[in-house]
Amino acid sequence: MVTLALYNLKGGVGKTAATINLAYLAAKEGYKTLVWDMDPQGSSSFYLGVEANTKNESKKLLNSEMDLLDAVQNSAYPNLDIIPADLSARHADVLLSEMKQSKRKISSLLSSLKKDYDVVILDCPPGISLLHDAIFFGADWVFMPNIPTTLSIRSYETVLTYFKENELDSAKLKCFFSMVDHRKNLHHEVMNNFYKDKFFLKSYIPYLSDVEKMGIHEAPLETFAASSYAAQCYRDLWKEIRKNCIDD
Ligand SMILES: Nc1ncnc2c1ncn2[C@@H]1O[C@H](COP(=O)(O)OP(=O)(O)O)[C@@H](O)[C@H]1O
Ligand SMILES: [Mg+2]
Repeated sequence: MVTLALYNLKGGVGKTAATINLAYLAAKEGYKTLVWDMDPQGSSSFYLGVEANTKNESKKLLNSEMDLLDAVQNSAYPNLDIIPADLSARHADVLLSEMKQSKRKISSLLSSLKKDYDVVILDCPPGISLLHDAIFFGADWVFMPNIPTTLSIRSYETVLTYFKENELDSAKLKCFFSMVDHRKNLHHEVMNNFYKDKFFLKSYIPYLSDVEKMGIHEAPLETFAASSYAAQCYRDLWKEIRKNCIDD
């Protein structure tokens, strides 16, 4: 089982769009795939048309009142399951602050999924907190979508420094550009500078309205716009991730 966290300190950078499209592509190729929605906004849950069945479910999962496997729900697509989020996910940091070894919590919860899944994708809330420490420790890979602008790159550098200062394994950190606007010189300049950086994948996701339409269709791109450029970009990103992080 390989666990990928879709993460950024910043919100609104394309974490959830990537979670859903990458998870769909993994499942389509036959990997038993689970999305674990950790964001109280529940956007991944919305895209896959699923709601938590139990009151305060996200909170109960984190404090081990409920088994992770009991929260798993099937999506409409073969091989693709989801643990949905509800608003109680907002209590994650308080719960973790009351636990011993909170850094190991996500890792130990994930171990209960090993027999059932090949790929687990964590759709993370933005921020940098005890929950993120546990995600950084427990995930095999941390993927950061980055908009090629000054503030987004600054947040990437903050995270990289945080990894180094907190003895986290920065080798598991990978970035890809997201919401790239080819009409903007700044985007080109930032991308050219950062492609030299070993943390950046070659594939990137442009700013395309088909991605926004996922909200109307409540579905992954492949299901309603498989021939679009946007769907092609996510397929390229998935292939690069699979080659570098899953099949080796
Ligand atoms: N490549 C893209 N092109 C255009 N719109 C995008 C793209 N990626 C995401 N969006 C839109 O931007 C908003 C935030 O994206 P989302 O994936 O929810 O970000 P995050 O999970 O990082 O908060 C959503 O409305 C989404 O539809
Ligand atoms: Mg999101």
